[in-house]
Amino acid sequence: MGKTKSNFFENVLRDNDLCLAPLAGVTDAAFRRICLESGAGLMFTEMISAKGLFYSNKATETLLYKDKYENLTGVQIFGSDVLSIQEAVSRHLNNAGFAFIDINFGCPVRKIVSNGDGSALMKKPEQAAKIAKCVVDSSKLPVSAKIRLGTDSNSINCVEISLALEEAGVDLITVHGRTAEQMYSGKADWHMIKKVSENVRVPVIANGDVKDYDSYMKIKETTGCAGVMIGRAALGNPFVFSEIIAKNKGLCYNPPSVAERMNTALRHLKLLVEYKTESVALKEFRKHLAWYTKGMYNSAKLRGKINTANSISDYEALIDQIVQDNA
Ligand SMILES: Cc1cc2nc3c(=O)[nH]c(=O)nc-3n(C[C@H](O)[C@H](O)[C@H](O)COP(=O)(O)O)c2cc1C
Repeated sequence: MGKTKSNFFENVLRDNDLCLAPLAGVTDAAFRRICLESGAGLMFTEMISAKGLFYSNKATETLLYKDKYENLTGVQIFGSDVLSIQEAVSRHLNNAGFAFIDINFGCPVRKIVSNGDGSALMKKPEQAAKIAKCVVDSSKLPVSAKIRLGTDSNSINCVEISLALEEAGVDLITVHGRTAEQMYSGKADWHMIKKVSENVRVPVIANGDVKDYDSYMKIKETTGCAGVMIGRAALGNPFVFSEIIAKNKGLCYNPPSVAERMNTALRHLKLLVEYKTESVALKEFRKHLAWYTKGMYNSAKLRGKINTANSISDYEALIDQIVQDNA
């Protein structure tokens, strides 16, 4: 398509380097809206199957929902079949209202890897670059890619693969500092992320184990990356973005009270109901409320009550009770 480089990512990350990670089953439009209000910059949908879009699978298409307030959300796709990727991009993603397209080269889940998708492509830099080029050529939007360090500790190839992706025309690379074999265990290796950022010209987002202001500062210092991505630390805690932003500006930060947390949780539920059907929203909110209440008084017992909530009013009553119990 012969696009000229827009410096989209450089400009966005200069303004706000805090990004919300793609999280399957979590980073839907409702959660993204909550994180946006807490100050997240670039945000990512959960991974979406290119084949699912190619075959116009209805469940897959619902994952493309975004609301009008999101200007910096990228849609993440996964797949290894060039034809379905090309079609998914030109038929669906170019016109779905997202700011950019992200390609998943990091998912270590067996079902995905056994199809040759996600982190299976870390083993095949040439195939990964071919897919990236196909997305770049079909896309009207900037393109990014998310990788891991390699498949396992004996095959660390994040620098090599990043150079190949850059050559293919990718405008941004996110590196999760673990191998696929590690899944989410062990410690993310921020020094390897630094190696990537030192070797490519495109901006790099560092990812893995950032949970608060101190770890945000540390990963920036260690990697020198243009952006920092937060995943698990945002579960039930979208406030992590406002905390880091406030502290970064040298402002005094007061963590939200239980009542404030529960207010956000309730707003989250209402957004889920607005964006999805009520029955889906009520079911999906269970895990979110369990995360929002983690560590609160009687949280283990609470989980049982959360799992039996069947209506918005059940949740409202439960949330009132939680506020009272934690006063
Ligand atoms: C529940 C869950 C779902 C995830 N889904 C995706 C996904 O859809 N796409 C992706 O690239 N990474 C996915 N990841 C990986 C995260 O984006 C991130 O790379 C990883 O959690 C490390 O960052 P953290 O330490 O900040 O959580 C997922 C991780 C978790 C825990």
